[in-house]
Amino acid sequence: MRTLSLSTIFLAAVAVFHHSASAQSPPGFTPSTNASLPAKYNALPISPAGIHVPLNDTTSPPILTPPTMSSLIIMIDLDTPFGALNRSFAPFLHWIATPSNSSIVPYLPPAPPPGSPEHRFVLLCYKLPINESFSMPTGWEDYGVTMGGMNRSRFDVERFVEAAELGRLSAANWFTVVREAENGTVPAEFTSGESSGAAGLFDVWLVAIVVGSIVMLLAE
Ligand SMILES: *[C@@H]1O[C@H](CO)[C@@H](O)[C@H](O)[C@H]1NC(C)=O
Ligand SMILES: *[C@@H]1O[C@H](CO)[C@@H](O)[C@H](O)[C@H]1NC(C)=O
Ligand SMILES: *[C@@H]1O[C@H](CO)[C@@H](O)[C@H](O)[C@H]1NC(C)=O
Ligand SMILES: *[C@@H]1O[C@H](CO)[C@@H](O)[C@H](O)[C@H]1NC(C)=O
Ligand SMILES: *[C@@H]1O[C@H](CO)[C@@H](O)[C@H](O)[C@H]1NC(C)=O
Ligand SMILES: *[C@@H]1O[C@H](CO)[C@@H](O)[C@H](O)[C@H]1NC(C)=O
Ligand SMILES: *[C@@H]1O[C@H](CO)[C@@H](O)[C@H](O)[C@H]1NC(C)=O
Repeated sequence: MRTLSLSTIFLAAVAVFHHSASAQSPPGFTPSTNASLPAKYNALPISPAGIHVPLNDTTSPPILTPPTMSSLIIMIDLDTPFGALNRSFAPFLHWIATPSNSSIVPYLPPAPPPGSPEHRFVLLCYKLPINESFSMPTGWEDYGVTMGGMNRSRFDVERFVEAAELGRLSAANWFTVVREAENGTVPAEFTSGESSGAAGLFDVWLVAIVVGSIVMLLAE
């Protein structure tokens, strides 16, 4: 997997950050927050939280605008095959990153198996102490390392947050992914969430993202 330049993942230039009126994580999931973590895959903003994202758009990590550059991002799949039978708690770890290290646990694109229902992916953002680099807490070092990088299942977020002393969730976002049929069609029952309501703040954020992208492209 190629190493992504950090500016393609985190937009530091313009951290326009807003609080949404509703929970930014899936219903029933904890931890939860109403603060949105602005994120987009290619040109598609993950807004409102919970929209469907085409599998093809998820090959590279999402572009994020965390509230501060001292942030830790965790991405998990709540519906791994183990979890699909028992949705209570079997998160699969897809990514742990900070703006200065995009691969504390390298990004693994969503890979729901053919025929499985839509998988819910959650992006969690925690504030880190300023200028402090992050490393995996004691007892968690093998996550994303052993089994050829595939030691990622049954990732207990709340226990991890406690072990890493991450404190309160500062922002979040979520989306769903399903494996399209080979002809590119998405099963009808998964297409309904795709329309996105453009609220005023969303427009501001989109402009900020575009400007930020241009700034970053020029800087590279
Ligand atoms: C999040 O939004 C919901 C719905 O508007 C509200 O009931 C709840 O109090 C909010 N939570 C926080 C922490 O602001
Ligand atoms: C699902 O798994 C959880 C945790 O292992 C367990 O507490 C719960 O009883 C299971 N539920 C079902 C329906 O199997
Ligand atoms: C990123 O984190 C990983 C895992 O802790 C570490 O092996 C790697 O050296 C770090 N990379 C940078 C650029 O700090
Ligand atoms: C963080 O690092 C930057 C750049 O090295 C430095 O200018 C700043 O003072 C540091 N901030 C803190 C709170 O240590
Ligand atoms: C996976 O990582 C965890 C946390 O570091 C570790 O306890 C466990 O032994 C690892 N499992 C394998 C099969 O490497
Ligand atoms: C695409 O595949 C789906 C699922 O196999 C099938 O129901 C649908 O008819 C196909 N559409 C076209 C245009 O071939
Ligand atoms: C995904 O991308 C690949 C390669 O660009 C393409 O062959 C395939 O048709 C795409 N599938 C969908 C569902 O868009």
